[in-house]
Amino acid sequence: MAATKKEPVVVSGAGPFSAPIGGLLTWVDQRFPLVSQWKEHMSEYYAPKNFNFWYYFGSLALVILVLQIVTGIFLTMHYKPSAAEAFASVEYIMRDVPGGWLIRYLHSTGASAFFIVIYLHMFRGLLYGSYRAPRELIWIFGMVIYLALMAEAFFGYLLPWGQMSYWGAQVIVNLFDALPLIGPDLSTWIRGDFVVSDATLNRFFAFHVIAIPLALLGLVAAHIMALHEVGSNNPDGVEIKETKDANGKPLDGIAMHPYYTIKDAFGVTVFAAMFCLILFFAPEMGGYFLEYNNFIPADPLKTPPHIAPVWYFTPYYSILRAVTEDFMKWLALGVAVYATLIVFTSRDCLSKIFAILAAPAIIFLMKGPSFTLFGVIFPIEAKVWGVVLMGVASMIFFLMPWLDKSPVKSIRYKGSLSRWALTIFVVVFLVLGYLGTLTVTDGRTLVSQICTVIYFSYFLLMPWYTQMEQTHPVPDRVTM
Ligand code: HEM
Repeated sequence: MAATKKEPVVVSGAGPFSAPIGGLLTWVDQRFPLVSQWKEHMSEYYAPKNFNFWYYFGSLALVILVLQIVTGIFLTMHYKPSAAEAFASVEYIMRDVPGGWLIRYLHSTGASAFFIVIYLHMFRGLLYGSYRAPRELIWIFGMVIYLALMAEAFFGYLLPWGQMSYWGAQVIVNLFDALPLIGPDLSTWIRGDFVVSDATLNRFFAFHVIAIPLALLGLVAAHIMALHEVGSNNPDGVEIKETKDANGKPLDGIAMHPYYTIKDAFGVTVFAAMFCLILFFAPEMGGYFLEYNNFIPADPLKTPPHIAPVWYFTPYYSILRAVTEDFMKWLALGVAVYATLIVFTSRDCLSKIFAILAAPAIIFLMKGPSFTLFGVIFPIEAKVWGVVLMGVASMIFFLMPWLDKSPVKSIRYKGSLSRWALTIFVVVFLVLGYLGTLTVTDGRTLVSQICTVIYFSYFLLMPWYTQMEQTHPVPDRVTM
């Protein structure tokens, strides 16, 4: 009998499918907006056609998020969140659980890979001004993701209950002690005890395995919804929605699927190869991904001589350590100079009033070590300012959409001041990161203090240097 050719079924414009698949799709589509969602976010989402290397890292971040969740689920099947058993259960996973070592190394290497990818993803935003209007919310969701990711990594690091897990958590939670009035109670409340203990491990476990991953998933969904609402930026910073063809499709856009799904698949393949190299040949990465001290069980009675956080926190850790009593004078001078700059050069009346009122108050608080208000003594030592500066350093990125006043978005068309500023900022971030892994010496403290000043200057002086410089004309259409 001659085979009869099946007629293709067209499902709500989803394309031709053979009868069984097409029928199933129609059935689902009448009950759930599957095809319309696929079209909106994939086959009819038009992304600029000039995406380059820097545009690999969003999809890679998504892949790593899934990897971390999947490997995390398997680790949880064998891990014991109790101070008495945690360390041994991780050893058990590494030695006795079939494939356990692979799952654990995938998860620990995945954590560092996540931060490498996220830092490159954020750098792309800084390069091409992807935080500028109308993409402020994409950036803000991204920043909340970044903070949540840091919390996730911090909570996760306590779980193996090694010396670095224990003492790292101890040092960071103790920082809250420095806050005036509420500090000591707050740090006890966070730990659930007077020292890091079983209670701390239990709550960190709860946050690490459920609360923060849930929040991350929601935030990533919001991040991508906001992106698809306004459309992607590109290396030229040209809005492709402004030049459309007769059908209303952007002339400089190509469909996300299949063009960018293929490009991203290539990115994932190259990433997977590099990831496997580290995973199989250097999972500890010379002590940067897994610190050697963490192979020793936690001992509350024995403080390690050198406590350093994992590499992705070290730029901020350096800023924390840079703030010494001597450095406070220079910081106060910096505040005075900055306020003067605002008063004499800003065209915004509110900013001037704010600078005139806030600067003296901040400088007063900086004089340390304490001040009295209504009979209450507020101890404000350099350590408090270190904590404040560390927090501000990680959150100041939130302000990018409003600090950058350049008439153009992309670094391609910005002037040399912006280019130099970004280059120096990256160098300083790396230097701070490196110094944060080392022990303190006078020389290193001085270098981190200089780097701290440059770090903040990059942001705080941005409204000036982005307006002063000569920019280049932006083309109407994207360039290839
Ligand atoms: C779990 C973490 C994250 C995931 C899964 C993620 C995912 C993505 C994806 C898939 C895209 C579109 C593809 C691309 O442009 O590369 C994107 C774009 C973007 N992301 Fe993220 N992201 C994450 C974190 C962040 C962070 C921390 C920031 C910055 C603070 C950020 C800022 C942006 C911006 C500004 C865009 C638009 C870029 C443009 O259109 O040029 N993202 N993100």
